[in-house]
Amino acid sequence: MSLMDRDMNKRTVDGVAGQMGAAPRRRLRIDVDGLKRRWFRDAKGERTTLPREFQEIKRPLLDAALGRGMPALANGRRIMVTSALPREGKTFCSINLALSIAAERDHGVVLVDADVARPSVPRELGVRTDRGLIDCLLDDSLSPAEVVCGTNIKRFSILPAGIRHRNATELLSSAAMSRFLDRLSRLYPDEIIVFDSPPLMVTSESRVLASHMGQIVLVVAAGETPRDVVNEAIGKLGSTAIAGVVLNKMSANRRAGYYGLY
Ligand SMILES: Nc1ncnc2c1ncn2[C@@H]1O[C@H](COP(=O)(O)OP(=O)(O)OP(=O)(O)O)[C@@H](O)[C@H]1O
Ligand SMILES: [Mg+2]
Repeated sequence: MSLMDRDMNKRTVDGVAGQMGAAPRRRLRIDVDGLKRRWFRDAKGERTTLPREFQEIKRPLLDAALGRGMPALANGRRIMVTSALPREGKTFCSINLALSIAAERDHGVVLVDADVARPSVPRELGVRTDRGLIDCLLDDSLSPAEVVCGTNIKRFSILPAGIRHRNATELLSSAAMSRFLDRLSRLYPDEIIVFDSPPLMVTSESRVLASHMGQIVLVVAAGETPRDVVNEAIGKLGSTAIAGVVLNKMSANRRAGYYGLY
């Protein structure tokens, strides 16, 4: 059983407070068993290898963030999960990466729903959220600590996208966002902060967001996203280092069990 599985099995409800830089004001209840059924079992009910695959994905990211065997990367604790196009699996990968890191015991994780125009972290996790990132960007006096939600999964917190706003995506590239990120990193100096984000080829703000990150994980829907589109997306990232590429083996027929990672 993977670390993540083990931790999720415990289903402790003491939340992340105590482990985290700033105690969350709200706590969300995630249906852990439902998630495991949906994501870690195939159509026949057999365990999938996904938890193990995410362990392998997270290892080099944590090494670079914490400076294990190498100098720690500047802003290495900020990890953005992105992709060229919509529906490649960014949200799925950012949630699973965050959960896998939280299962490590040593690290708290804040998952930021930065896909502010089409937030889907709450939907995927089956929780309801209200205030979040956009509220903080619109009101400097609102601290990130006031909108971060703890969960029933130890060391795992969520910073929701927040209020719907017609210029939500544009706000990602604002000076307010830059200040917000500095504030967030100061509030959670020991945590790993994972960002779900909009697709690179759809919004230019995603690229600006990337410039504030220490590590980028690029999700590619294997067999779907054309090579030149992937290359163009990589070009958009400019000098921001891509820490890794996740080949997400997508399939129209999920029940047939074609999902997986490489
Ligand atoms: N490896 C996987 N295993 C199981 N389900 C997956 C996998 N990858 C993606 N999915 C599912 O496919 C759907 C699309 O994935 P997801 O929402 O993560 O993509 P996205 O890139 O975030 O999309 P968007 O650009 O719309 O935000 C979701 O329902 C997700 O749960
Ligand atoms: Mg998404």
